[in-house]
Amino acid sequence: MSHKLDQLLDELKKDLSGVTQKEKVLDIKSKYLGKKGPIADIMSGLKNASLEEKKEIGSKVNIVKDQIQDLITHKLSEIESSEINETLKTSQIDITYRDYVKQTDTMHAGFHPLSAIKREIEDIFVSMGFEVLDGPHIEEEFYNFDALNIPPSHPARDMQDTFWFHDKDSTEEKKRLLRTHTSCVQVRGMLKRKPPFRFIVPGKVFRAEKIDASHEAVFHQVEGMLVDKNISVANLIYFMKVALREIFKKDVEVRLRPGFFPFVEPGFELDVKCLICGGKGCSVCKQSGWLELLPCGMIHPNVLKAGKIDPEIWNGFAFGMGLDRLVMMRFGIDDIRNIHGADLRFINQFKSY
Ligand code: PHE
Repeated sequence: MSHKLDQLLDELKKDLSGVTQKEKVLDIKSKYLGKKGPIADIMSGLKNASLEEKKEIGSKVNIVKDQIQDLITHKLSEIESSEINETLKTSQIDITYRDYVKQTDTMHAGFHPLSAIKREIEDIFVSMGFEVLDGPHIEEEFYNFDALNIPPSHPARDMQDTFWFHDKDSTEEKKRLLRTHTSCVQVRGMLKRKPPFRFIVPGKVFRAEKIDASHEAVFHQVEGMLVDKNISVANLIYFMKVALREIFKKDVEVRLRPGFFPFVEPGFELDVKCLICGGKGCSVCKQSGWLELLPCGMIHPNVLKAGKIDPEIWNGFAFGMGLDRLVMMRFGIDDIRNIHGADLRFINQFKSY
């Protein structure tokens, strides 16, 4: 009997060798351990045996049964791990994918309102023939002030509280600062092109401001510059009105006031009727009903000269839009601090942009 059982184990090992499918292993399992298999056969043959024999053979059969079971289990796990290895070899599975899909149920992939509006403005001006330029945030005093007709002792420097650098790269001859406006790119842009040209410069600017509902130390402007022949204030007003109508998707009420900026002459402040309160007065428009949105003017001849352009032949206009205010009016946001705060409850309201 013992010999028969040993034979059985040898046969099983032979049967299992080379098998690569789980189904086949399960077939083999039932062949050996099933109701009509050899083990069941031996057990039923014990019916007429003596008690002694039953005990002895019964326990041997049980041991062999366990060994068969072990061989089968081992074979199954062998097949399983080789299947996994095979899959890993042939397919590229992103094991983070499932998690990612789960997360997107609550996350969104829209644009921040500021980026959304910036892109819209870029599209609008590109459609009017403008280039989109960029410039450094860490700027030289020359581009931020001197070249814009603001010499060192000029009181206009006090209008913009400047963050100055005091490191080794910022020398007395070449003082460096965080740009206080995007106007410095006017000069960089002029020096790199020949008129006629027109470009905008969307970007971050920095001022040591006291922060409140309508002031941030870091905010955004969209500078604009157009240089051509015989440009007049009427051209400036036309471009501004078209752009604002496109941005707000409706005709907005505007007013022009004289404004002083050393780099434009004449200079203006273009105000928009406050879209938050409709002109009644609120914290954003400081109860005036109007929002200072767009300083602008005709480019000062000294600025053209700094850009190596002959003011006897060429002239043009420049403007500097406050992008954050524009976003606030467009979306009815009453506190500029929301725009920069990374509060998802705020940002998630702009999913569709
Ligand atoms: N650079 C000015 C500012 O930041 C705005 C401006 C730009 C005014 C262009 C006139 C023309 O205040």
